[in-house]
Amino acid sequence: MSEEIIVVRGNGTLKGEVWVSGAKNSALKLMAATLLGRGKTILHNVPFISDIAIMSEVLTRLGATVERDGHTLIIDTASVDSYKTPYELVSKMRASISVLGPLIGRFGKAHVAMPGGCQIGARKIDMHLVGLEALGVKFDVEHGDLLASTPNGLHGAHVTLSFPSVGATENLLMAAVAAEGKTVIENAAREPEIEDLAQMLISMGAKIEGAGSSIIEIEGVPSESFGPCEHTTVGDRIEAGTFLAGGALMGGPVTVRGIDPSFLRMAIFKLRAMGCDVETGEDWITVSRTKPLVATEIQTLPHPGFPTDLQAQFMLLTARAEGTSVITENVFENRFMFAAELGRMGGDITIEDHHAIVRGVGRLQGAPVSSTDLRAGAALVLAGIDAEGETRVHEIRHIDRGYEDYVGKLASLGADVRRELID
Ligand code: EPZ
Repeated sequence: MSEEIIVVRGNGTLKGEVWVSGAKNSALKLMAATLLGRGKTILHNVPFISDIAIMSEVLTRLGATVERDGHTLIIDTASVDSYKTPYELVSKMRASISVLGPLIGRFGKAHVAMPGGCQIGARKIDMHLVGLEALGVKFDVEHGDLLASTPNGLHGAHVTLSFPSVGATENLLMAAVAAEGKTVIENAAREPEIEDLAQMLISMGAKIEGAGSSIIEIEGVPSESFGPCEHTTVGDRIEAGTFLAGGALMGGPVTVRGIDPSFLRMAIFKLRAMGCDVETGEDWITVSRTKPLVATEIQTLPHPGFPTDLQAQFMLLTARAEGTSVITENVFENRFMFAAELGRMGGDITIEDHHAIVRGVGRLQGAPVSSTDLRAGAALVLAGIDAEGETRVHEIRHIDRGYEDYVGKLASLGADVRRELID
């Protein structure tokens, strides 16, 4: 059976300017939130990635219409008449669970397949369920489906999350906006995508304060009062961080545009700590390097800590730095698969529980490698640009889930990279 791969020749070049796309991890939830709007919402800066296509299918299956006009989606949810999201869609993309909150907000019920785990961990949703139960939601599980109902209505509550889960915060937010009374979410996730979602919900008629901080307060309004809106998705900080890591590795200068630098404070701090020069403007960041990369210590943490979605990209930097670095993955239980693939290219990495000890090496060698998740896949392509010889990256469907035209953008920065169909 034929397979599409990415072929990279190590020319060590990445120089110039690239525009980042809209954030995958915001756009998917903004699309789910349109279910509350009962009308035609216009969503700008939506990336051309496969996860967006799946979420469009989820909404269509619920009865919405989704049209694309370039990077703009026109989503009409007036005709949504179902609250069921089947397993074959949730199993394709676990972020489909983001429709749970808005379906409950709109209908007071939902039938959504339980998401499975994935390569990087169990990806449980217990915090989503406990939080929604506090708002009056009753869950039954039948044949792998979550059957949510609100026998006594959806009411406000004070919910404390045991971990600042992004998904749980979002689902709670999208239900609480339509609950009767006040909801407080304590220990809420503080990612910029949460603020982006709250901004859109507010423009639909929701009453939310504190999004982006660890305490979010919501005054519920009747679900019929929500209207559609027009909203622009924030830039993708992880795509931006990926290109910055590439610029840091090859020396750059690389400028990413269309991104708020305040989204990447910790990553910028680490780039400077590793010997890079970083300049920022209102919606751009430039990285360059003239000195050797130096080792560092990284702990992945919920925002504003170092983002787990940049862990693989920065492991690559430490693999080429002078000295020994330690990377600790605190968010997911199994997110070091990239290390084994980089080892095939000459990386010297030892995994001890949730720590990776990375000893810098002078050179990487091109090799056939496999993407295990989208961020590891993106980092493997960067490794191939730096390495000696040719690198063939397999399983690139992972990359296509979250990076719009990754090969085209890298090639525009001087990389010798192409997609190839092989038998
Ligand atoms: C979102 O996943 C992102 N995905 C992830 O990006 C990102 O890595 C993650 O947030 C952390 O920033 C999307 O937005 C679509 P969590 P999410 O709930 O919401 C555990 C990428 O590469 N947990 O904050 O699933 C969970 O297992 C992807 O773009 C529970 O135990 O993240 C994980 O270990 C990868 N119970 C940790 O918390 C729950 O109820 C963080 O999960 C919920 C989560």
